[in-house]
Amino acid sequence: MPGTEAGDVGTRIVGGTRASISDYPWAVYLTNTAGSQFCGGALVAPNKVVSAAHCTINRSASAVRVVAGREDKNGTAGVVASVTSIWNHPDYRSYLIGEDVSVLTLDRDLPYETLPLATPADTALYEAGTTSKVLGWGATSSGGAASRYLLEVDVPVTSDATCAGAYSQYNSTAMVCAGFPEGGYDACQGDSGGPLVVDGKLIGIVSWGNGCAWAGYPGVYARVSTYAADIQAQLG
Ligand code: ARG
Repeated sequence: MPGTEAGDVGTRIVGGTRASISDYPWAVYLTNTAGSQFCGGALVAPNKVVSAAHCTINRSASAVRVVAGREDKNGTAGVVASVTSIWNHPDYRSYLIGEDVSVLTLDRDLPYETLPLATPADTALYEAGTTSKVLGWGATSSGGAASRYLLEVDVPVTSDATCAGAYSQYNSTAMVCAGFPEGGYDACQGDSGGPLVVDGKLIGIVSWGNGCAWAGYPGVYARVSTYAADIQAQLG
């Protein structure tokens, strides 16, 4: 909760709590062939996962696995799917510029509920102050170790002016920010590619930030509504 003392911060995602995979069946993570988790993602069609281009741009499909239905990385629940192809946004150059979006095609249809995409009609979901939820298995503090379990944290969407004030690279077409002015709650390293959700829709993809959960530096996410048509075209 906002207003929690600083000493309480840094235990989960950053400032979050454990989440049940049964509540977020579309939450997935990406591993290398050795099973080491490096990013998150969201199942948006039975055989399609949205993630961040910076997670996938330097990897071949054959080197990536998607783990679905598994809350505990040390467990065996769910499915480990192979990836048959990766689409990175063709204009992606750097997450600081934008277009930090990718779509992975899986070797099979997964038996899990999918997450709908926000579209350009969903402007209300991006209003400043709207509570959004970010999920992932990434670091629980800036520079810290990754989480064994799926974690969730609620953060308010910030205005474009607030985010532009924090980051000179902020581009309101390509990006959206979320976080409390006083920090304390955020995504972090290893959460990249994972979902930012409002009202049951994917509005953002974990992309970057200055540290994690630092006061004055909200998390930056790829703005899904901008890329909805490009993503949809990959869902075939
Ligand atoms: N780039 C990081 C990753 O690859 C995600 C950073 C998100 N940072 C933040 N403060 N929200 O996992």
